[in-house]
Amino acid sequence: MIEGILTLLKREKKSTSDGLSTSFLSSSLNLPLHSIYDGIVELRRLGYKIEAEKGKGYKLVSVPDAFIPLEINYNLKTKILGKKIYSYRVLKSTNDLAYRLAEEKAPEGTLIVAEKQTSGKGRLGRKWFSPPDKGIWMSLILRPKIPPAKAPGLSLCAGLALIQAIRDKTRLEADLKWPNDCLLGGEKVAGILLELSAELDKIDFIIIGVGINVNQTQNDFPKNLKGKATSIFLESKDKFSRVELLKSFLERFEKIYLNFKTFGLKFYREEIKKSSSLLGKKVKLLYGKEKLKGVVKDIDENGSLVLETRKGEKTVTAGEVTLI
Ligand code: BTN
Repeated sequence: MIEGILTLLKREKKSTSDGLSTSFLSSSLNLPLHSIYDGIVELRRLGYKIEAEKGKGYKLVSVPDAFIPLEINYNLKTKILGKKIYSYRVLKSTNDLAYRLAEEKAPEGTLIVAEKQTSGKGRLGRKWFSPPDKGIWMSLILRPKIPPAKAPGLSLCAGLALIQAIRDKTRLEADLKWPNDCLLGGEKVAGILLELSAELDKIDFIIIGVGINVNQTQNDFPKNLKGKATSIFLESKDKFSRVELLKSFLERFEKIYLNFKTFGLKFYREEIKKSSSLLGKKVKLLYGKEKLKGVVKDIDENGSLVLETRKGEKTVTAGEVTLI
C-alpha cells in the first residue's frame, strides 16, 4: 500500500502541482481514505518528509537516506541483485547473516544491509569499523556455476563495479588495489570480503561483503585508522546519498557479474588494469608464510597478480600487498 502512495508522491514531486489530495490518492490506488491516512503516517515514521497544506494535497519534500527496502527497490534496474532485501538497524555482521541465510537456501541476489555493524569483519581476521548511518555495510548471496578456483575474480568484479558507482555518483576517481580494496587519495575508502562455501569442483554459494565509507567525518574514524582510511565525504567535502550509491553499485555489479559467469574477466581486464594503483609499482606481498618482493607486471585473465621478482616471474592468486 505505501509503495503505491510513495510512487504517486514521487511522480508528483517532479511536477509543479499543489500536491495530491487524499481523495485523489484513494481513487487512484483503489484504497479507502483511512488507508491513505495510515500510509502517510507510516511513510512519515520511516523518515519521509511529507507536507500537507490545508486545501492543497500531500507533497513529498524529502526522502530519508536510510536502507528502507522500499527506497532501495524504487526504480532499481536489476533482475537478480536486491530482489530480496533484509535490512537492519544493527547487525553483528551482514556477512554472517548472509552466510546463514544462504545455508537456509536464500535465493541468489539476496541483499543484506545494515545501518551499523557491531562485529564487522575485514579480511585476514581483521575488524571492519562500521559506525551507524554513515557508510554502506552490505552483503550479497551469489550462486554462480563456476569452478571454485575462479571465485577470486569476483572480488575484482565487485571492486570494478564499486569504482564505477563511485565515479557515477560522486565524480571521484577511485583506484582499485588488488585484490579487494578501493582507494581514494591513497587511502582505503571501501573493502570487499568474499566468503565461499564449496566442494572441490562446485560452488554452493559465495557471500560478497562490501563496506563503503561514505559520509564519515575525520572524527568518526578511530585513531588507529587515521591516515589509512578515508570516506567519500572527506575526499569530496560533499555528503552523498548512500541509497543511491548502493543502487548504482547493484546495477553495475549485476551487469559485470552476468558477463563474468560466461566470459570470465575478458571484457573487464583492461578496465581493471587501468584502474589499478599497483601496476608498475614495487611491492611486498604476504601470502600465508610466503613473502615476495617485486614489480607488478600484470593482472592476468584469472585476476591473479603477476610479479617480476629477482627469481623471475611469479603469479599469485591472493595475498596482502604493500607498496615499498
Ligand atoms: C576488507 O577490506 O578487509 C574487507 C572489508 C569488508 C567489510 C564488509 S562491511 C559488510 C560486510 N560485513 C562484514 O562483516 N564485512 C563486510
